[in-house]
Amino acid sequence: MSGSESSLYERLGGVYAISAVIDHFSDQLLKNEKVVNANPYLKEWHTQEFKVRLPGLKFLRTLWACSVTGGPFQYAGRPLGEAHLNFRIPPEVFDEVAEELERSLKHFHVPERERSEVLAAFNANKSGVTAGSILPTLKK
Ligand code: HEM
Repeated sequence: MSGSESSLYERLGGVYAISAVIDHFSDQLLKNEKVVNANPYLKEWHTQEFKVRLPGLKFLRTLWACSVTGGPFQYAGRPLGEAHLNFRIPPEVFDEVAEELERSLKHFHVPERERSEVLAAFNANKSGVTAGSILPTLKK
């Protein structure tokens, strides 16, 4: 590409490399007790619902990542605020998930510049994704 900078999507290695990171990150989250045990909603998802929803979640997370990094894909899932509202995700759990993502990027030797760009795109959604944390917890 003469004269123009390649997209983050291209610098990450495209859909296969991004899928590998999302696959690893999503599996690691299931073992992260700070996330699994954060509240009853996240507990139920990570111990029960994941059994039928994890492959679809990996697909949608990969689609989101391929879209937001400038790849030739359009994210067509639900808006992130809506998708996460009922999980009542506290800001500190969001930060833990961001750290898990950083560990997965390092696991695949993604360079520092690209790691920080991916994390910036993730963190840009913090207020929307954690908006439900002010809702009361109704489950036991
Ligand atoms: C910028 C940050 C985040 C991004 C880009 C993201 C991405 C996504 C996407 C694309 C979906 C599918 C949405 C749909 O149903 O169409 C989703 C759902 C989900 N996210 Fe996130 N997420 C983020 C933060 C988090 C955090 C911090 C958690 C905490 C554990 C989390 C847990 C979940 C869970 C459990 C689902 C499954 C919902 C279902 O079964 O339908 N996400 N996320």
